[in-house]
Amino acid sequence: MKRRNIIIDCDPGIDDIVALSFALANEDKLNILGITTVAGNQTIEKVTTNALKVMSYYNKDIKIAMGQKRPLLREKAAASNVHGENGMGDYQLPEPKIELYSDNAITFLRDTILSSEEKVTLVPVGPLTNIALLIKVFPEVIENIELVSIMGGSTSGGNRTSCAEFNIWADPEAAKIVFDSKLPIVMSGLNVTHSSGLYKEDVEKLAQSTGKVTELCGKMLQYYFKGDHVKEGTFTPIHDACAIMYLLYPELFEFKHMRVDVDCSEELSRGNTIVDVRDWIKYDETYPRVLTNVDTEKFREILLNDLYKLDEMVG
Ligand code: RIB
Ligand code: CA
Repeated sequence: MKRRNIIIDCDPGIDDIVALSFALANEDKLNILGITTVAGNQTIEKVTTNALKVMSYYNKDIKIAMGQKRPLLREKAAASNVHGENGMGDYQLPEPKIELYSDNAITFLRDTILSSEEKVTLVPVGPLTNIALLIKVFPEVIENIELVSIMGGSTSGGNRTSCAEFNIWADPEAAKIVFDSKLPIVMSGLNVTHSSGLYKEDVEKLAQSTGKVTELCGKMLQYYFKGDHVKEGTFTPIHDACAIMYLLYPELFEFKHMRVDVDCSEELSRGNTIVDVRDWIKYDETYPRVLTNVDTEKFREILLNDLYKLDEMVG
């Protein structure tokens, strides 16, 4: 089966690292052309270092390019309360043995997309700053983009504020550019990612594992249970893994094409993704595929299986 070309744009970030691990476990189906970083969960320096550390720890030779250090217009606000001061739940990995491939994610994205014979799927799981700049500065890439599988937004309530999800809240103008672009988008919003994750006992078992990948992911995910990020202390969403899971197992999800507008005000509603959920309004396929439901148990089973599988792959 032909592998899907993907580039993951991320702000690692605990769930970003789990999503990267999940993608690496599926390299038989996903051809990871590169990883680009964007400021979000932590500063651009920290999230880029984290990406280098993890790929080095896994001995994976994947190109990493550093992206934007701040939103298009707004001030940068880190989410250190959720991901810790170092962005990895304060879990410490050795210094990376690999070098940054590029310090310009935008030109890396342009060059990689334009030079790919097959179309490329983008998987943004942080603020959309890099992606917005890419399509504005180099619109010629659009025709070689297969799909944009976004973790971001929500059809029902936020997490950074009561109505805005963090990735969109962090850079609303960038999100508006992307959602208004008519690119083929799949949106994994909080309305499904809050039911896409692992139970506390799964995390505890991972943390006690002797495998490189499972111990790293488990120990980082334990950090989530220190905050109010989890459901009644029993279940943690792994938001970013959803954007990868959809590419591999779309049958786990339900979706509807719906219009998505982004609130770019300065008010409490900043970063709200206003989704037209009226079921009598029919939006055609040029509108985003907004995920509306997920098979939580299958999601959990596949993710756990693949994290343990990557243990074997990285040795
Ligand atoms: O709201 C969840 C999103 O914000 C995830 O991408 C997480 O990594 C943080 O960036
Ligand atoms: Ca993220």
